Amino acid sequence: MTGTHQAVIAPRALGDAGPAVHPIGLGCMGMSWVYAPQERDEEAAIRTIRRALDLGLDLFDTADLYGPFSNERLLGRALKGRRDRAVVATKAGLAVDDAGSIHRDGSPAHLRASCEASLRRLGLDHVDLLHLHRVDPAVPLEETWGAMAELVAEGKVRGIGLSEVSVAEIDLAHAIHPVATVQNELSLWSREPLADVLPHCRSRGIGFVACCPLGRGFLTGAFREPGDLPAGDGRRDHFPRFSVEAMRQNRALLDELGAMARDAGHTPAQLALAWVLAQDDAVVAIPGARTLPHLTENAEAASVVLTADVRARLDALPPAVGGRY
Ligand SMILES: NC(=O)c1ccc[n+]([C@@H]2O[C@H](COP(=O)([O-])OP(=O)(O)OC[C@H]3O[C@@H](n4cnc5c(N)ncnc54)[C@H](OP(=O)(O)O)[C@@H]3O)[C@@H](O)[C@H]2O)c1
Repeated sequence: MTGTHQAVIAPRALGDAGPAVHPIGLGCMGMSWVYAPQERDEEAAIRTIRRALDLGLDLFDTADLYGPFSNERLLGRALKGRRDRAVVATKAGLAVDDAGSIHRDGSPAHLRASCEASLRRLGLDHVDLLHLHRVDPAVPLEETWGAMAELVAEGKVRGIGLSEVSVAEIDLAHAIHPVATVQNELSLWSREPLADVLPHCRSRGIGFVACCPLGRGFLTGAFREPGDLPAGDGRRDHFPRFSVEAMRQNRALLDELGAMARDAGHTPAQLALAWVLAQDDAVVAIPGARTLPHLTENAEAASVVLTADVRARLDALPPAVGGRY
């Protein structure tokens, strides 16, 4: 049997101790950074964020790095007067120098200064989640995490999380202070967390925030070759999966996904998101969407229930060609 049916949307807990949120959140990065620079429109992005709240979406993901810095200001503007309805997640631990180069900085001083600057830009007295954007190999994780735990004790942050981490790193941090959430990439073409990190999070009561759940847009079918991406779009240069050859080979995955979506009466984006959510109810997905049509389409994915047949066909899609970074 193919096809899907509608179901009531239940909120999902962001870990044992975290708030319950809509299974679909909103990734805000693309509103200010990396993608389609000439299409960025701050007022449209603010309308999208406010519409997300109206649709019941409540988890908003940003980082000091996005922009850099402008994405947090944008989110702060959009949430003015509505902060109580939102769960705000930001990140620290990637620093950008005057020349625009990005480097890891897990020093306690950097984490503290970054968090305080994020709060000022967001216009908030606390964030709900602060993720360590990347572990800094030059600083013992215990030191970085200890500094983040202090921010919790001071009330500046409700929960702390890790991004792009291994099971060993999760355990090291969790022994010092509870890891609220792990934010790793999970999508039909990035399945690595299914092997170990996601089951580990489940067993420890840690929430899992799936970033890039649409494969940075590839899984929507919006572009099939690099030339379909807008000029200046970071995907053209920075991600191996978006090279001419990788995209040519990855089209097989896209064609199968598109055929399945047509059969099921949904869009490829909706099937891709439903597959992510179906992995475990510890998972929430944060697709990036700048426009109201994309936002609405993605929100509807929360009510798509995959039949066993569709799920099996999605599970069997070919692996991606090309590295993530
Ligand atoms: N922790 C980390 O290291 C890390 C890394 C990357 C991202 N993230 C977070 O994860 C969030 C999501 O990742 P992402 O934005 O990179 O990738 P994504 O969610 O996989 O894909 C976003 C792309 O898909 C497009 N899109 C969204 N919905 C669509 C739809 N229904 N139909 C057609 N196209 C659609 C978006 O276009 P429009 O923008 O034009 O709507 C955008 O180009 C980010 O915003 C960020 O918060 C975290």
